[in-house]
Amino acid sequence: MSEPSPTPTPESWRRVDAYLTETLVGHDPDLEFAVAEQHAAGLPPIEVAPVNGKLLHLLVRIAGARRVLEIGTLGAYSTIWMARGLPDDGAVVTIEAEPAIAKVARANLDRAGVGGKVEIKLGRAADVLPGLEGAEPFDLVFIDADKESNTIYLDWAARLGRPGTVVVVDNTVRGGEVANPATTNSQIIGVQRGLEMLGRDPRFDATALQTLDLKGWDGVAIAVVV
Ligand code: DHB
Ligand code: MG
Repeated sequence: MSEPSPTPTPESWRRVDAYLTETLVGHDPDLEFAVAEQHAAGLPPIEVAPVNGKLLHLLVRIAGARRVLEIGTLGAYSTIWMARGLPDDGAVVTIEAEPAIAKVARANLDRAGVGGKVEIKLGRAADVLPGLEGAEPFDLVFIDADKESNTIYLDWAARLGRPGTVVVVDNTVRGGEVANPATTNSQIIGVQRGLEMLGRDPRFDATALQTLDLKGWDGVAIAVVV
């Protein structure tokens, strides 16, 4: 080892995130419009960062995915990124509990030109997911909804997938709180249970990476269904 690695400050990691975004992700009016509409509708600004949206897009392409399942639509920012990675006959099924949010998502998807590839299923994911059984398996599943239910969603990801299905879980570090065994926050506990399941459940092989981007210190878990 040469010099010790410097400690990142919010200024330095934001500068790096801006540099990476500028260099590798660029600008997309439809994606930026989707975020603006989401904010104008009063929805929380918790869509994934651009570098993370691009990661989802690349995973769809690397996996050669045709069928994508997303749990938690919000303003469809990540949905648009993933839909754009699909072949012409590909499809995203995305689940959103709130009708008013689904309306914002639908407008954003249509404006981005991917509306025909995306079906929004309205309802609580735990109620909607059993109805997806029996169809063609999903090739990639993105879990980004209420963290308390992560283990339920992972179980469905395995059931609705096939060997080789890619599973991605958002928000797996939460400012470092994931490594606090004494946490009483139900969302953090949900994230911990999900990661423990990914480590223990023989249906998955998984890892997780910490991320520092314009959403702060968080992380993403990536798994394959065995
Ligand atoms: C938050 C961020 C997310 O990406 C999410 O899915 C849920 C909550 C948050 O920052 O609170
Ligand atoms: Mg999220």
